[in-house]
Amino acid sequence: MVNIALIGYGYWGPNLARNVHQVPGAKLAVCCDADASRLAQVNLLYPLATVTTRAEDVWASPAVDAVVIATPAQSHFQLAKAALEAGKHVLVEKPLALSSEEARELIKLADARKLVLMVGHTFVYNPAVLKIKELIDQGQLGDVYYAYSTRVNLGRLHRDLNVLWSVVPHDISILLFLFGHMPLEVSARGNSYLKSGVEDVVFVSLFFPNGVMGNVHASWLDPSKVRRMTIVGSQKMVIYDDVESEGKIKVYEKGVLKVDHGEIFGEFQYKLHTGDIHIPKIDLSEPLRNECAHFVECVEKGTKPRTDGENGLQVIKVLEAAQRSLEKRGAPVEVR
Ligand SMILES: NC(=O)c1ccc[n+]([C@@H]2O[C@H](COP(=O)([O-])OP(=O)(O)OC[C@H]3O[C@@H](n4cnc5c(N)ncnc54)[C@H](O)[C@@H]3O)[C@@H](O)[C@H]2O)c1
Repeated sequence: MVNIALIGYGYWGPNLARNVHQVPGAKLAVCCDADASRLAQVNLLYPLATVTTRAEDVWASPAVDAVVIATPAQSHFQLAKAALEAGKHVLVEKPLALSSEEARELIKLADARKLVLMVGHTFVYNPAVLKIKELIDQGQLGDVYYAYSTRVNLGRLHRDLNVLWSVVPHDISILLFLFGHMPLEVSARGNSYLKSGVEDVVFVSLFFPNGVMGNVHASWLDPSKVRRMTIVGSQKMVIYDDVESEGKIKVYEKGVLKVDHGEIFGEFQYKLHTGDIHIPKIDLSEPLRNECAHFVECVEKGTKPRTDGENGLQVIKVLEAAQRSLEKRGAPVEVR
């Protein structure tokens, strides 16, 4: 049995508590939130869990094997570092930290102590995303040309962390997973309308090897909730709509075929091809449940998570390049 302490029971924490509680082999042993008023609900829902307002109680408890951190991003590094130093395995919400230096320090610490360090890139545990990855890897889309994503809604705004760092990690983690590469270069534009210096809307372009391109539009200042990604390949195209309850993925047999002209040597004709639209069956498991189960399995077996510290670092490197580009009004910035 893996005894888990959850730190942060605000908006997202209750989802993690429910999933940790339900994963076989895991026990929600402690729930910690600096705001005592958040803990009353924990007592009602999980009477067997101990509650505390002090993270130090978690570090000191020999009964805790692993820690799940769901506090605002500004505290991720400090809490994850303290947890690792106390010998606990760590699952930290995205982004792993707020700089690549911090992420590297966490990776080093986890490696030295042989502890699991995992980041909550939830979409990498989403059956719809896994299905798209399968289609790409099987070559069903042909050559992938480009993908673009829209992740907008009204609300869940942050006072200090811009929409790039709070929302775009999702899309970057999906694109890195699907393409299996880091982008070479990033260009980002955005603006702050509500609070100076905190961008509410960003448009991020990512340039991958072999001419593959990605684009992300994220905003918390938008009339409707949209969670949609389009992937365009030479053979087929996919639209992934995460808001849909059925038919999240639609595969379009559409493309442009380059065929020999026939009469003029070396010349090609371009023919539009439009075929069927398929809705693949995808398993309906909850992505966060899969993520929590994966964490528990990695702790039990001592294996590296699919979204390990290195993966968290990769996403941060892209975010850092995008942030530099934002500050240079969209100038292309190399991802280092
Ligand atoms: N994977 C996803 O889809 C997803 C969705 C939403 C949020 N998140 C992530 O979850 C994390 C939390 O976001 P949220 O929206 O729930 O934030 P929130 O502000 O609603 O909740 C954070 C909670 O943490 C507590 N807290 C803060 N510092 C603490 C400390 N040092 N010790 C103990 N408790 C502390 C606060 O009192 C608060 O209750 C963020 O990292 C965010 O990026 C992930």
